[in-house]
Amino acid sequence: MTADAQAAFASYQAESLEAIAGALSEDALEAVRVEFLGKKRGRLKDLQSLLGQATPEERPVLGKVFNEVRSEVESALEARQSELAVPEVAVAAVDVTLPGPRPVVGRRHPITRTMDDFKDIVGRMGFSVATGPELEDDHHNFVALNIPPVHPARDPLENFYLATASVGRADGDAAVLMRSQTSTVQIRVMEQTAPPLRIVSLGRCYRPDTIDATHHCMFHQMEGLVVDEGITMADLKTVLKHFATAFLGDDVEVRFRPSFFPFTEPSVEVDVLWRDRWLELGGAGMVDPNVFGEVGYDPERVTGFAFGLGIERFCMMRYQITDIRRFFENDVRFLTQF
Ligand code: DAH
Repeated sequence: MTADAQAAFASYQAESLEAIAGALSEDALEAVRVEFLGKKRGRLKDLQSLLGQATPEERPVLGKVFNEVRSEVESALEARQSELAVPEVAVAAVDVTLPGPRPVVGRRHPITRTMDDFKDIVGRMGFSVATGPELEDDHHNFVALNIPPVHPARDPLENFYLATASVGRADGDAAVLMRSQTSTVQIRVMEQTAPPLRIVSLGRCYRPDTIDATHHCMFHQMEGLVVDEGITMADLKTVLKHFATAFLGDDVEVRFRPSFFPFTEPSVEVDVLWRDRWLELGGAGMVDPNVFGEVGYDPERVTGFAFGLGIERFCMMRYQITDIRRFFENDVRFLTQF
């Protein structure tokens, strides 16, 4: 009797553990539970009746085995229940098709941040963003911008030339330099696009200036160019006033002072009155007909305005930075403030 009962216990144990491990869903596991542990018709009841048939001497031994088998099967069932429950909870809580949170890795440099803000503002005024190379040829940096072969702006002491052999000669087109202004991009865009145009270009410029609190040999400009029929200086002033007001957040005043640039006629310096001080922002003017001639535009049909603004200056005003050198020292104590 004892041997039969023990064999029955063993096969119950083996079969139930196998069925528990093989259950692949909570429903399947529930069916296994009913079959092996169910109070009414479960197979555990058959084992219990074997216990009932045992002699009083056999009963304590068999009872101990019975209890051990039952509790092992019960724990295996519980463990499997929690295994099967985990993935369902996880699927409900995490939608893996959603974009994840943006990782916080580093920060945007204040100049990059300012350029992004500039693009947002002028983007709302219908400007698109153009780019051009930082390593330029003489034609785009000077000739096409109406800067004649002998002109102080071409001086080797004012520019970073990479090949100086042809500077100042009639075939000066061969010279290559780090661009000294973003006005080069005006030419590149007009060469490739018919009017009307409304573009900005933001980027680095290079000049061998002595470095101090307000000058650096590398700096950033935003160039703007609008060409269409009937464009006037009033359009220029409106755009710059909207722009300065949007960036500085106050209703600022913009003022023009007469100036000279070879590529604009008339030309102006642009100042902004912000918190009771006039600050210089850059140059601007109406595109010189000679520039239109260089790129094949008809100056009898279209007019246009252009501007070139110093990005560092805006950024320094906005964030009250007093030394331009801070931007390029890569000191994290400075950079993490933005
Ligand atoms: N390129 C000039 C500079 O670097 C700034 C400038 C003046 C740009 C007048 C313009 C302009 O487009 O019309 O000093």
